[in-house]
Amino acid sequence: QDVGIVIVAAGRGERAGQEGGPKQYRQIGGAPVISHTLRRFAAWHGTGTIICVIHPDDENLFAAALEASGVSHAVTSIHGGATRQASVLAGLIALKSAAPDARHVMIHDAVRPFFDDALLERCAAALIAGDQAVLPAVAVADTLKKGDSAGHVAGTVPRAGLFAAQTPQSFELDAILAAHRAAAETGRTDFTDDAGIAEWAGLAVRLVEGDAGNIKLTLKKDLDMADQRLAQPEP
Ligand code: C5P
Repeated sequence: QDVGIVIVAAGRGERAGQEGGPKQYRQIGGAPVISHTLRRFAAWHGTGTIICVIHPDDENLFAAALEASGVSHAVTSIHGGATRQASVLAGLIALKSAAPDARHVMIHDAVRPFFDDALLERCAAALIAGDQAVLPAVAVADTLKKGDSAGHVAGTVPRAGLFAAQTPQSFELDAILAAHRAAAETGRTDFTDDAGIAEWAGLAVRLVEGDAGNIKLTLKKDLDMADQRLAQPEP
């Protein structure tokens, strides 16, 4: 069965610097970041309805990026909210109305263009096996430190059992939609990922192996590195 895809792209991307506009529309490898993300989803056999959640100011940027992607898969765009959490909820509601029979959804940050089919397959396999919530993640490799307000190390955090969360986070659509609605109703607006909302709602979240290459383009240097990476031939 086809998996609905919600791609969130309504952020302003301030950490990459204002110059050049929101980072999801910056050029890497000759096309906007989100064009690469769309191509990857459009090329996967499991992809069903695609909803892109965009900022109202970015209509033209999005239309140009969709065209640059060359994807023929139907893509619906809707407007997001003030937080990532609000944008995802808007996307889930739009997906439910566009594809009422969709059983599963993958929720993905537009600024992660480097996932591959194998990652999507690992997430989909866990859903098919019955997991309601699936998180691709990589074990933390760095030693982690806590800092204090004076700029000193306040302690070392044991990294055993710690993972860095990636997207696409994958869910049973009705379960994550209910969890998002409940979170919004209680006034919680501080969730930075959807697995966090699933945990809060009491769903078991399955960990699957992420991909070290599936980085989130956050800073200007990430965009530069992504551009160089796309200039190299695929290994
Ligand atoms: O801000 P952050 O880096 O966590 O954003 C992750 C993703 O969420 C980005 O793709 C961004 O465009 C999206 N986002 C959104 N609506 C917001 C804030 C962020 O769709 N209000």
